[in-house]
Amino acid sequence: MNTALFDRVSNVQADLLVVFVPSEGVLPESTAWVDGNADGQLLQLRESGVFKAGLGQTLLLPSVTQDFSQPVLLVGLGKGEALSDMQARKVVAAVAGAVKGLPFAEVALASSALQVKNRTASEVTALVAQWLNEGFYNFLGFKQDDAEKATKVTTLLLEGSEESALKIGAATASGSAFARQLGNLPGNVCTPSYLASKAQHFEEEYGIEVELLDETKMDELGMHCLLSVGRGSDQPSYLIVMHYRGGEEGDAPHVLLGKGITFDTGGISLKPGAKMDEMKYDMCGAASVFGTMKTICELKPKLNFTAVVAAAENMPSGRATKPGDIVKTMSGKTVEVLNTDAEGRLVLCDALTYIERFQPKSVVDIATLTGACVVALGSVNSGMYANNDDLAADLKAASQTSGDKIWQMPLDEEYQQQLDSNFADIGNIGGPEAGSVTAACFLSRFTQSYPWAHLDIAGTAWTGGAAKGASGRPVALLTRYLLDKAN
Ligand code: BES
Ligand code: MN
Ligand code: ZN
Repeated sequence: MNTALFDRVSNVQADLLVVFVPSEGVLPESTAWVDGNADGQLLQLRESGVFKAGLGQTLLLPSVTQDFSQPVLLVGLGKGEALSDMQARKVVAAVAGAVKGLPFAEVALASSALQVKNRTASEVTALVAQWLNEGFYNFLGFKQDDAEKATKVTTLLLEGSEESALKIGAATASGSAFARQLGNLPGNVCTPSYLASKAQHFEEEYGIEVELLDETKMDELGMHCLLSVGRGSDQPSYLIVMHYRGGEEGDAPHVLLGKGITFDTGGISLKPGAKMDEMKYDMCGAASVFGTMKTICELKPKLNFTAVVAAAENMPSGRATKPGDIVKTMSGKTVEVLNTDAEGRLVLCDALTYIERFQPKSVVDIATLTGACVVALGSVNSGMYANNDDLAADLKAASQTSGDKIWQMPLDEEYQQQLDSNFADIGNIGGPEAGSVTAACFLSRFTQSYPWAHLDIAGTAWTGGAAKGASGRPVALLTRYLLDKAN
Protein backbone atom coordinates (compact mmCIF):
# COMPACT_ATOMS: atom_id res chain seq x y z
CA MET A 1 0.00 0.00 0.00
CA ASN A 2 1.31 3.46 -0.92
CA THR A 3 0.63 6.22 1.53
CA ALA A 4 1.07 9.94 0.92
CA LEU A 5 -0.13 13.32 2.18
CA PHE A 6 -2.09 16.12 0.54
CA ASP A 7 -2.64 19.66 1.78
CA ARG A 8 -6.27 20.40 0.83
CA VAL A 9 -9.18 18.54 -0.76
CA SER A 10 -9.49 21.02 -3.61
CA ASN A 11 -6.02 19.90 -4.80
CA VAL A 12 -6.29 16.15 -4.48
CA GLN A 13 -6.91 13.64 -7.29
CA ALA A 14 -8.35 10.31 -6.19
CA ASP A 15 -10.94 7.71 -7.17
CA LEU A 16 -12.78 8.25 -3.90
CA LEU A 17 -12.88 11.16 -1.51
CA VAL A 18 -13.75 10.45 2.13
CA VAL A 19 -15.15 13.37 4.13
CA PHE A 20 -16.33 13.57 7.72
CA VAL A 21 -19.69 14.86 8.87
CA PRO A 22 -20.61 15.80 12.45
CA SER A 23 -24.23 15.04 13.39
CA GLU A 24 -24.81 18.70 14.28
CA GLY A 25 -23.22 22.12 13.86
CA VAL A 26 -20.95 23.48 11.14
CA LEU A 27 -19.19 21.21 8.67
CA PRO A 28 -15.38 20.85 8.78
CA GLU A 29 -13.62 22.93 6.09
CA SER A 30 -13.02 20.09 3.64
CA THR A 31 -16.57 18.76 4.02
CA ALA A 32 -17.99 22.26 3.51
CA TRP A 33 -15.97 22.55 0.31
CA VAL A 34 -17.50 19.32 -1.02
CA ASP A 35 -20.95 20.49 0.11
CA GLY A 36 -20.41 23.73 -1.83
CA ASN A 37 -19.60 21.75 -4.97
CA ALA A 38 -22.58 19.50 -4.37
CA ASP A 39 -25.22 22.25 -4.26
CA GLY A 40 -25.63 21.78 -0.49
CA GLN A 41 -26.63 18.11 -0.79
CA LEU A 42 -24.54 17.04 2.21
CA LEU A 43 -26.28 19.37 4.64
CA GLN A 44 -29.63 18.43 3.11
CA LEU A 45 -28.93 14.75 3.64
CA ARG A 46 -28.14 15.46 7.26
CA GLU A 47 -31.10 17.78 7.85
CA SER A 48 -33.60 15.43 6.21
CA GLY A 49 -32.34 12.58 8.42
CA VAL A 50 -31.36 10.44 5.42
CA PHE A 51 -27.78 10.55 6.72
CA LYS A 52 -27.79 11.32 10.45
CA ALA A 53 -23.98 11.22 10.70
CA GLY A 54 -23.88 9.00 13.79
CA LEU A 55 -20.45 7.85 14.89
CA GLY A 56 -19.03 5.56 12.21
CA GLN A 57 -22.12 5.73 9.99
CA THR A 58 -21.24 5.82 6.28
CA LEU A 59 -23.01 6.75 3.05
CA LEU A 60 -21.52 6.42 -0.43
CA LEU A 61 -22.46 9.09 -2.98
CA PRO A 62 -21.35 7.52 -6.30
CA SER A 63 -21.63 10.80 -8.17
CA VAL A 64 -22.57 14.04 -6.45
CA THR A 65 -23.47 16.41 -9.31
CA GLN A 66 -22.74 16.60 -13.03
CA ASP A 67 -19.88 19.04 -12.45
CA PHE A 68 -18.53 17.25 -9.41
CA SER A 69 -18.71 13.61 -10.38
CA GLN A 70 -16.06 12.25 -8.03
CA PRO A 71 -17.45 9.53 -5.74
CA VAL A 72 -17.63 10.72 -2.12
CA LEU A 73 -17.93 8.65 1.03
CA LEU A 74 -19.60 10.44 3.92
CA VAL A 75 -18.54 9.31 7.38
CA GLY A 76 -20.42 10.33 10.52
CA LEU A 77 -18.57 11.73 13.52
CA GLY A 78 -21.52 11.87 15.90
CA LYS A 79 -21.90 14.92 18.10
CA GLY A 80 -19.32 16.62 20.25
CA GLU A 81 -15.97 18.19 19.52
CA ALA A 82 -13.02 15.85 19.84
CA LEU A 83 -13.26 12.06 19.75
CA SER A 84 -11.80 9.63 22.27
CA ASP A 85 -9.21 7.14 20.99
CA MET A 86 -11.86 4.46 20.98
CA GLN A 87 -14.31 6.60 19.01
CA ALA A 88 -11.65 7.65 16.49
CA ARG A 89 -10.72 4.01 16.02
CA LYS A 90 -14.35 3.14 15.41
CA VAL A 91 -14.66 5.88 12.77
CA VAL A 92 -11.48 4.76 11.00
CA ALA A 93 -12.56 1.12 11.12
CA ALA A 94 -15.87 2.16 9.53
CA VAL A 95 -13.99 3.90 6.71
CA ALA A 96 -11.85 0.83 6.08
CA GLY A 97 -14.89 -1.44 6.25
CA ALA A 98 -16.84 0.67 3.75
CA VAL A 99 -13.93 1.11 1.33
CA LYS A 100 -12.67 -2.49 1.47
CA GLY A 101 -15.29 -3.93 -0.85
CA LEU A 102 -15.32 -1.01 -3.32
CA PRO A 103 -13.45 -0.99 -6.65
CA PHE A 104 -11.42 2.19 -5.97
CA ALA A 105 -7.61 2.16 -6.09
CA GLU A 106 -6.80 5.68 -4.89
CA VAL A 107 -8.58 6.87 -1.76
CA ALA A 108 -8.17 10.33 -0.23
CA LEU A 109 -9.29 11.09 3.33
CA ALA A 110 -10.02 14.62 4.53
CA SER A 111 -8.48 13.51 7.79
CA SER A 112 -7.79 16.88 9.37
CA ALA A 113 -11.46 16.83 10.37
CA LEU A 114 -10.61 14.08 12.82
CA GLN A 115 -9.90 15.74 16.17
CA VAL A 116 -8.85 13.35 18.90
CA LYS A 117 -8.76 14.25 22.59
CA ASN A 118 -5.24 14.80 24.00
CA ARG A 119 -3.58 14.02 20.68
CA THR A 120 -1.51 16.22 18.40
CA ALA A 121 -2.13 16.39 14.64
CA SER A 122 1.02 14.34 14.14
CA GLU A 123 -0.18 11.59 16.48
CA VAL A 124 -3.55 11.51 14.73
CA THR A 125 -1.86 11.20 11.33
CA ALA A 126 0.23 8.25 12.55
CA LEU A 127 -2.74 6.51 14.16
CA VAL A 128 -5.11 7.05 11.23
CA ALA A 129 -2.52 5.74 8.76
CA GLN A 130 -1.95 2.72 10.99
CA TRP A 131 -5.59 1.94 11.74
CA LEU A 132 -6.70 2.38 8.12
CA ASN A 133 -4.01 0.06 6.81
CA GLU A 134 -4.86 -2.43 9.55
CA GLY A 135 -8.48 -2.22 8.51
CA PHE A 136 -7.61 -3.33 4.99
CA TYR A 137 -5.92 -6.53 6.18
CA ASN A 138 -7.39 -9.77 4.88
CA PHE A 139 -6.17 -13.26 5.66
CA LEU A 140 -5.45 -14.60 2.20
CA GLY A 141 -4.02 -17.82 0.86
CA PHE A 142 -6.46 -20.50 1.89
CA LYS A 143 -9.88 -19.81 0.33
CA GLN A 144 -10.84 -20.25 -3.28
CA ASP A 145 -12.47 -16.80 -3.50
CA ASP A 146 -9.44 -14.96 -2.07
CA ALA A 147 -9.03 -12.68 -5.07
CA GLU A 148 -12.51 -11.21 -4.63
CA LYS A 149 -11.90 -10.41 -0.97
CA ALA A 150 -8.55 -8.68 -1.47
CA THR A 151 -8.81 -4.92 -1.12
CA LYS A 152 -8.53 -2.93 -4.36
CA VAL A 153 -7.01 0.07 -2.58
CA THR A 154 -3.42 0.68 -3.66
CA THR A 155 -2.90 4.28 -2.56
CA LEU A 156 -4.04 6.07 0.58
CA LEU A 157 -3.89 9.83 0.71
CA LEU A 158 -4.25 11.64 4.04
CA GLU A 159 -4.71 15.33 4.64
CA GLY A 160 -1.85 16.79 6.66
CA SER A 161 1.81 17.75 6.69
CA GLU A 162 3.39 15.24 9.07
CA GLU A 163 5.54 13.11 6.74
CA SER A 164 7.40 11.21 9.43
CA ALA A 165 4.23 10.42 11.39
CA LEU A 166 2.67 9.05 8.22
CA LYS A 167 5.69 6.83 7.59
CA ILE A 168 5.62 5.52 11.16
CA GLY A 169 1.89 4.77 10.96
CA ALA A 170 2.19 2.96 7.63
CA ALA A 171 5.27 0.95 8.67
CA THR A 172 3.62 0.00 11.96
CA ALA A 173 0.61 -1.28 10.04
CA SER A 174 2.85 -3.30 7.75
CA GLY A 175 4.57 -4.92 10.76
CA SER A 176 1.24 -5.51 12.43
CA ALA A 177 -0.16 -7.14 9.27
CA PHE A 178 2.89 -9.40 9.14
CA ALA A 179 2.30 -10.42 12.76
CA ARG A 180 -1.39 -11.08 12.06
CA GLN A 181 -0.57 -13.20 9.04
CA LEU A 182 1.87 -15.37 11.02
CA GLY A 183 -0.65 -15.62 13.86
CA ASN A 184 -3.52 -16.63 11.61
CA LEU A 185 -1.55 -19.32 9.76
CA PRO A 186 -2.58 -22.81 10.84
CA GLY A 187 -0.27 -24.92 12.99
CA ASN A 188 0.44 -27.33 10.14
CA VAL A 189 1.96 -24.48 8.12
CA CYS A 190 3.44 -22.23 10.79
CA THR A 191 5.86 -24.62 12.52
CA PRO A 192 9.09 -23.70 14.34
CA SER A 193 11.05 -24.31 11.12
CA TYR A 194 8.61 -22.07 9.23
CA LEU A 195 9.36 -19.26 11.69
CA ALA A 196 13.08 -19.93 11.23
CA SER A 197 12.64 -19.63 7.45
CA LYS A 198 10.90 -16.26 7.93
CA ALA A 199 13.98 -15.02 9.80
CA GLN A 200 16.12 -16.09 6.85
CA HIS A 201 13.82 -14.14 4.52
CA PHE A 202 14.38 -11.07 6.69
CA GLU A 203 18.12 -11.64 6.42
CA GLU A 204 17.90 -11.62 2.62
CA GLU A 205 15.39 -8.79 2.37
CA TYR A 206 16.76 -6.37 4.98
CA GLY A 207 20.38 -7.42 5.40
CA ILE A 208 20.04 -8.08 9.12
CA GLU A 209 22.15 -10.79 10.78
CA VAL A 210 20.30 -14.00 11.66
CA GLU A 211 21.45 -16.91 13.84
CA LEU A 212 19.41 -20.10 14.02
CA LEU A 213 20.14 -22.38 16.96
CA ASP A 214 18.94 -25.91 16.24
CA GLU A 215 18.34 -28.65 18.81
CA THR A 216 21.94 -29.90 18.68
CA LYS A 217 23.29 -26.42 19.37
CA MET A 218 20.78 -25.80 22.16
CA ASP A 219 21.66 -29.14 23.72
CA GLU A 220 25.35 -28.12 23.75
CA LEU A 221 24.40 -24.85 25.43
CA GLY A 222 22.43 -26.71 28.12
CA MET A 223 18.98 -25.41 27.14
CA HIS A 224 17.30 -28.59 28.36
CA CYS A 225 14.27 -26.78 29.71
CA LEU A 226 13.44 -25.26 26.32
CA LEU A 227 14.13 -28.58 24.62
CA SER A 228 11.84 -30.47 27.05
CA VAL A 229 8.81 -28.68 25.53
CA GLY A 230 9.33 -29.87 21.96
CA ARG A 231 10.28 -33.38 23.02
CA GLY A 232 6.85 -34.82 22.19
CA SER A 233 6.70 -33.17 18.78
CA ASP A 234 7.98 -34.36 15.41
CA GLN A 235 8.76 -30.72 14.63
CA PRO A 236 12.23 -29.64 15.73
CA SER A 237 12.52 -26.62 18.05
CA TYR A 238 14.54 -23.50 17.22
CA LEU A 239 15.96 -20.50 18.97
CA ILE A 240 15.86 -17.73 16.38
CA VAL A 241 18.04 -14.63 16.81
CA MET A 242 17.91 -11.55 14.55
CA HIS A 243 20.19 -8.53 14.93
CA TYR A 244 19.18 -5.14 13.55
CA ARG A 245 22.19 -2.83 13.79
CA GLY A 246 21.22 0.77 13.16
CA GLY A 247 23.14 2.22 16.10
CA GLU A 248 26.78 2.64 17.03
CA GLU A 249 28.98 -0.41 16.65
CA GLY A 250 29.35 -2.14 20.00
CA ASP A 251 26.40 -0.26 21.52
CA ALA A 252 24.36 -2.68 23.66
CA PRO A 253 21.07 -3.75 22.07
CA HIS A 254 17.49 -3.56 23.27
CA VAL A 255 16.13 -7.10 23.10
CA LEU A 256 12.63 -8.38 22.40
CA LEU A 257 11.89 -12.06 23.08
CA GLY A 258 8.76 -13.77 21.77
CA LYS A 259 7.05 -16.97 22.88
CA GLY A 260 6.76 -19.06 19.71
CA ILE A 261 4.71 -22.13 20.60
CA THR A 262 3.38 -22.86 17.12
CA PHE A 263 0.72 -25.12 18.62
CA ASP A 264 -0.05 -25.73 22.28
CA THR A 265 -1.99 -28.95 22.91
CA GLY A 266 -0.94 -28.76 26.56
CA GLY A 267 1.25 -31.83 26.04
CA ILE A 268 0.63 -34.74 28.43
CA SER A 269 -1.36 -32.25 30.58
CA LEU A 270 -3.67 -32.19 27.56
CA LYS A 271 -6.02 -29.26 27.07
CA PRO A 272 -9.77 -29.86 26.64
CA GLY A 273 -11.00 -29.98 23.05
CA ALA A 274 -13.20 -26.88 22.99
CA LYS A 275 -11.48 -23.99 21.19
CA MET A 276 -8.20 -25.88 21.10
CA ASP A 277 -7.77 -24.64 17.51
CA GLU A 278 -7.05 -21.21 19.02
CA MET A 279 -3.79 -22.55 20.40
CA LYS A 280 -2.31 -21.99 16.94
CA TYR A 281 -2.14 -18.40 18.25
CA ASP A 282 0.33 -19.42 20.96
CA MET A 283 3.13 -17.98 18.81
CA CYS A 284 1.66 -14.47 18.70
CA GLY A 285 4.43 -13.16 20.98
CA ALA A 286 6.93 -14.39 18.41
CA ALA A 287 4.77 -12.93 15.62
CA SER A 288 4.82 -9.50 17.31
CA VAL A 289 8.61 -9.67 17.53
CA PHE A 290 8.82 -10.49 13.79
CA GLY A 291 6.33 -7.73 13.00
CA THR A 292 8.27 -5.19 15.04
CA MET A 293 11.51 -6.26 13.31
CA LYS A 294 9.83 -5.66 9.94
CA THR A 295 8.64 -2.19 10.98
CA ILE A 296 12.07 -1.28 12.37
CA CYS A 297 13.81 -2.49 9.20
CA GLU A 298 11.47 -0.28 7.15
CA LEU A 299 11.94 2.81 9.35
CA LYS A 300 15.70 2.33 9.97
CA PRO A 301 16.00 4.15 13.32
CA LYS A 302 19.43 4.62 14.89
CA LEU A 303 19.61 1.91 17.53
CA ASN A 304 20.71 -1.67 17.98
CA PHE A 305 17.85 -4.08 18.42
CA THR A 306 17.97 -7.84 18.79
CA ALA A 307 14.87 -10.01 18.29
CA VAL A 308 14.78 -13.50 19.78
CA VAL A 309 12.12 -16.16 19.24
CA ALA A 310 11.84 -19.37 21.24
CA ALA A 311 9.99 -21.72 18.88
CA ALA A 312 8.60 -25.17 19.70
CA GLU A 313 5.46 -27.24 19.32
CA ASN A 314 3.87 -28.65 22.51
CA MET A 315 2.56 -32.17 21.78
CA PRO A 316 1.84 -35.35 23.75
CA SER A 317 3.65 -38.49 22.64
CA GLY A 318 5.64 -41.43 23.99
CA ARG A 319 8.67 -39.19 24.13
CA ALA A 320 6.91 -36.15 25.62
CA THR A 321 7.88 -34.59 28.95
CA LYS A 322 5.60 -35.87 31.74
CA PRO A 323 4.26 -34.17 34.87
CA GLY A 324 6.86 -34.58 37.59
CA ASP A 325 9.81 -34.73 35.20
CA ILE A 326 12.77 -32.62 36.31
CA VAL A 327 14.78 -30.70 33.72
CA LYS A 328 17.88 -28.55 34.03
CA THR A 329 17.81 -25.01 32.66
CA MET A 330 20.73 -23.28 30.97
CA SER A 331 21.09 -21.17 34.12
CA GLY A 332 21.80 -24.32 36.16
CA LYS A 333 18.50 -24.14 38.11
CA THR A 334 16.40 -27.31 37.93
CA VAL A 335 12.66 -27.21 37.19
CA GLU A 336 10.00 -29.71 38.21
CA VAL A 337 7.51 -29.75 35.32
CA LEU A 338 4.32 -30.16 37.35
CA ASN A 339 2.12 -29.24 34.39
CA THR A 340 3.29 -29.64 30.80
CA ASP A 341 0.71 -27.03 29.75
CA ALA A 342 2.74 -24.32 31.52
CA GLU A 343 5.25 -24.61 28.67
CA GLY A 344 5.69 -20.96 27.66
CA ARG A 345 7.80 -20.15 30.71
CA LEU A 346 9.89 -23.27 30.03
CA VAL A 347 10.97 -22.11 26.58
CA LEU A 348 11.35 -18.49 27.66
CA CYS A 349 13.58 -19.10 30.69
CA ASP A 350 16.41 -20.61 28.67
CA ALA A 351 16.10 -17.88 26.03
CA LEU A 352 16.29 -15.27 28.83
CA THR A 353 19.53 -16.85 30.04
CA TYR A 354 20.92 -17.01 26.51
CA ILE A 355 20.20 -13.27 26.08
CA GLU A 356 22.62 -12.41 28.94
CA ARG A 357 25.47 -12.70 26.43
CA PHE A 358 24.26 -9.57 24.63
CA GLN A 359 24.58 -7.50 27.84
CA PRO A 360 21.29 -5.89 26.79
CA LYS A 361 20.14 -2.38 27.71
CA SER A 362 16.66 -3.81 28.20
CA VAL A 363 14.79 -7.04 27.56
CA VAL A 364 11.04 -7.26 26.95
CA ASP A 365 9.45 -10.66 26.49
CA ILE A 366 6.06 -10.99 24.85
CA ALA A 367 4.00 -14.12 25.45
CA THR A 368 0.50 -15.56 25.28
CA LEU A 369 1.38 -16.92 28.68
CA THR A 370 -1.69 -17.45 30.86
CA GLY A 371 -5.44 -17.88 30.70
CA ALA A 372 -5.41 -16.14 34.09
CA CYS A 373 -4.31 -12.90 32.42
CA VAL A 374 -7.38 -13.07 30.17
CA VAL A 375 -9.54 -13.40 33.30
CA ALA A 376 -7.79 -10.44 34.94
CA LEU A 377 -7.61 -7.92 32.08
CA GLY A 378 -9.76 -9.24 29.24
CA SER A 379 -8.91 -8.10 25.73
CA VAL A 380 -8.35 -4.41 26.53
CA ASN A 381 -4.95 -4.31 28.26
CA SER A 382 -1.94 -6.57 27.96
CA GLY A 383 -0.49 -7.43 31.38
CA MET A 384 2.89 -5.81 32.01
CA TYR A 385 5.41 -6.84 34.65
CA ALA A 386 8.84 -5.30 35.21
CA ASN A 387 11.85 -5.57 37.49
CA ASN A 388 12.82 -1.97 36.70
CA ASP A 389 10.74 1.20 37.18
CA ASP A 390 12.35 3.16 34.33
CA LEU A 391 11.60 0.40 31.85
CA ALA A 392 8.01 0.15 33.13
CA ALA A 393 7.61 3.93 32.72
CA ASP A 394 9.04 3.83 29.18
CA LEU A 395 6.61 1.07 28.20
CA LYS A 396 3.67 2.97 29.71
CA ALA A 397 4.65 6.08 27.74
CA ALA A 398 4.91 4.06 24.51
CA SER A 399 1.56 2.48 25.28
CA GLN A 400 -0.04 5.89 25.71
CA THR A 401 1.39 7.25 22.43
CA SER A 402 0.58 4.15 20.40
CA GLY A 403 -2.85 3.51 21.91
CA ASP A 404 -1.74 -0.12 22.40
CA LYS A 405 -2.81 -0.56 26.01
CA ILE A 406 -0.94 -2.21 28.87
CA TRP A 407 -1.60 -2.41 32.60
CA GLN A 408 1.16 -2.98 35.13
CA MET A 409 0.77 -6.01 37.37
CA PRO A 410 2.61 -6.80 40.62
CA LEU A 411 5.71 -8.92 41.20
CA ASP A 412 5.81 -8.90 45.02
CA GLU A 413 8.17 -11.32 46.69
CA GLU A 414 5.20 -12.92 48.50
CA TYR A 415 3.98 -14.50 45.26
CA GLN A 416 7.32 -16.20 44.62
CA GLN A 417 6.87 -18.91 47.25
CA GLN A 418 4.07 -20.47 45.22
CA LEU A 419 6.82 -21.79 42.94
CA ASP A 420 8.61 -23.80 45.66
CA SER A 421 9.10 -27.47 44.75
CA ASN A 422 9.87 -30.46 46.98
CA PHE A 423 12.07 -32.04 44.35
CA ALA A 424 13.72 -29.32 42.25
CA ASP A 425 14.90 -25.72 42.60
CA ILE A 426 11.59 -24.44 41.25
CA GLY A 427 8.21 -25.77 40.11
CA ASN A 428 6.74 -24.60 36.81
CA ILE A 429 3.32 -23.71 38.24
CA GLY A 430 2.00 -21.89 41.31
CA GLY A 431 -1.32 -22.59 43.02
CA PRO A 432 -4.76 -21.70 41.70
CA GLU A 433 -4.40 -18.01 42.66
CA ALA A 434 -2.79 -15.19 40.66
CA GLY A 435 -1.79 -17.40 37.75
CA SER A 436 -0.54 -14.60 35.53
CA VAL A 437 1.58 -13.22 38.40
CA THR A 438 3.19 -16.55 39.29
CA ALA A 439 4.04 -17.14 35.62
CA ALA A 440 5.81 -13.75 35.59
CA CYS A 441 7.50 -14.68 38.89
CA PHE A 442 8.89 -17.79 37.24
CA LEU A 443 10.42 -15.69 34.45
CA SER A 444 11.78 -13.14 36.93
CA ARG A 445 14.06 -15.85 38.35
CA PHE A 446 16.01 -15.75 35.07
CA THR A 447 16.23 -12.00 34.49
CA GLN A 448 18.25 -10.69 37.40
CA SER A 449 21.16 -9.39 35.32
CA TYR A 450 19.30 -6.81 33.20
CA PRO A 451 16.27 -4.47 33.14
CA TRP A 452 13.41 -6.73 32.13
CA ALA A 453 9.71 -6.49 31.42
CA HIS A 454 7.19 -9.15 30.51
CA LEU A 455 4.02 -8.63 28.48
CA ASP A 456 1.30 -11.25 28.91
CA ILE A 457 -0.70 -10.87 25.69
CA ALA A 458 -2.97 -13.92 26.12
CA GLY A 459 -6.06 -11.67 26.07
CA THR A 460 -4.97 -9.14 23.46
CA ALA A 461 -3.15 -11.08 20.73
CA TRP A 462 -6.27 -12.36 19.02
CA THR A 463 -10.04 -12.03 18.94
CA GLY A 464 -12.23 -15.08 19.33
CA GLY A 465 -15.80 -15.70 18.13
CA ALA A 466 -17.15 -14.64 14.74
CA ALA A 467 -14.34 -12.13 14.15
CA LYS A 468 -11.70 -14.71 15.03
CA GLY A 469 -8.25 -13.52 14.04
CA ALA A 470 -4.88 -12.25 15.22
CA SER A 471 -4.82 -8.59 16.31
CA GLY A 472 -1.21 -7.67 15.53
CA ARG A 473 -0.77 -6.42 19.08
CA PRO A 474 1.56 -5.31 20.57
CA VAL A 475 3.56 -4.35 17.43
CA ALA A 476 2.48 -0.71 17.75
CA LEU A 477 3.59 -0.55 21.39
CA LEU A 478 6.95 -2.24 20.76
CA THR A 479 7.67 -0.10 17.71
CA ARG A 480 6.95 3.08 19.65
CA TYR A 481 9.09 1.85 22.56
CA LEU A 482 12.07 1.23 20.26
CA LEU A 483 11.63 4.47 18.29
CA ASP A 484 11.61 6.39 21.60
CA LYS A 485 14.89 4.64 22.49
CA ALA A 486 16.44 5.81 19.23
CA ASN A 487 15.53 9.45 19.93
N1 BES B 1 -0.88 -20.76 25.92
C1 BES B 1 -1.46 -20.97 27.18
C2 BES B 1 -2.10 -19.71 27.76
C3 BES B 1 -3.40 -19.29 27.14
C4 BES B 1 -4.58 -19.92 27.49
C5 BES B 1 -3.45 -18.23 26.28
C6 BES B 1 -5.78 -19.49 26.96
C7 BES B 1 -4.63 -17.80 25.74
C8 BES B 1 -5.81 -18.43 26.09
C9 BES B 1 -0.40 -21.43 28.17
O1 BES B 1 0.61 -22.21 27.65
C10 BES B 1 -1.10 -22.25 29.19
O2 BES B 1 -1.60 -23.26 28.84
N2 BES B 1 -1.11 -21.78 30.43
C11 BES B 1 -1.78 -22.45 31.48
C12 BES B 1 -0.91 -22.38 32.70
C13 BES B 1 -1.36 -23.25 33.82
C14 BES B 1 -1.19 -24.70 33.45
C15 BES B 1 -0.57 -22.92 35.06
C16 BES B 1 -3.13 -21.76 31.71
O3 BES B 1 -3.18 -20.53 31.62
O4 BES B 1 -4.10 -22.46 31.92
MN1 MN C 1 0.11 -24.25 27.58
ZN1 ZN D 1 1.04 -21.93 25.70
